[in-house]
Amino acid sequence: MKIIENIEALRSTLKNEENIAFVPTMGNLHEGHLSLIRIAKKHADFVVVSIFVNPLQFLPSEDFNQYPRSFNSDCNMLRNLDVDLVFAPNDKILFPVPQEILVLLPPVANKYEGEFRQGFFCGVATIVLKLFNIIQPDIAIFGKKDYQQLHIIRLMVQQFNFAIKILDGEIVRATDGLALSSRNQYLNNAQRLEACNLYQALQSIVNEVKNGHSNFSFLEKKATDKLSERDWKVDYISILDKRTLLPAQANDRELVILAAAQIGKTRLIDNIEFINEHY
Ligand code: PAJ
Repeated sequence: MKIIENIEALRSTLKNEENIAFVPTMGNLHEGHLSLIRIAKKHADFVVVSIFVNPLQFLPSEDFNQYPRSFNSDCNMLRNLDVDLVFAPNDKILFPVPQEILVLLPPVANKYEGEFRQGFFCGVATIVLKLFNIIQPDIAIFGKKDYQQLHIIRLMVQQFNFAIKILDGEIVRATDGLALSSRNQYLNNAQRLEACNLYQALQSIVNEVKNGHSNFSFLEKKATDKLSERDWKVDYISILDKRTLLPAQANDRELVILAAAQIGKTRLIDNIEFINEHY
């Protein structure tokens, strides 16, 4: 497995590769990331994983400095999966000059995560666009854990005519249902036990819709109130049409519930896709 820091060396290594799959990450890898790499291996001859904690996608108030970095153990995991190349640039390599040209996104990027983390998706789209231009993969794989991110990347690929096929990976969860995330390690023992209630709240909504409830804003509020009673600070729980990420109508069939909530100082996101069988 090659570990490459600079763009010229990367380009010359990739020059003769014909079928490249790319998995962008911010490192601190867990089974969620690894599941995407397994998908990559199935679909391509050469797998590139990037590790870069992207400053453009953190607000000044957020955890850029504390974000867990574990480069050596990440590389060991990637070696075990037979990844071909790790691209691990530093800030100076990706931003030799200040990044003044940014991707302008449609209104969906200002909702849900975008409402609570202003500029977040602009930072994500801009770095992903740079990485796509540097690596020029045939395929790129993103997790459904970051559902809105995946949606926005698909829009960007379509609207900027990237010849890159986007594949998605299902959310990998701990046995109690908590979606794996690098930020889970901020949780203390009590918070870690409490954390699975976010997923359970989403599952309760799915069950209620299955049982015929169709007042979605009532269901969103009920789930929010239940978590708030358990000392969560809920940013949003939103039942949406999964194709557009607009609020679901009662007769929409393919739905997703996106949620973000804070427990102590740790902010978690989760989602569930489901079919409203009544339509
Ligand atoms: P990061 O949070 O490291 O996630 C990298 C990829 O792993 C994303 O596509 C994310 O959706 C996926 N992922 C994370 N947890 C997962 C889980 N439990 N199950 C399945 N997939 C999971 O997302 C980013 O980095 C950044 O925004 C990035 C795209 C790299 C741009 O900086």
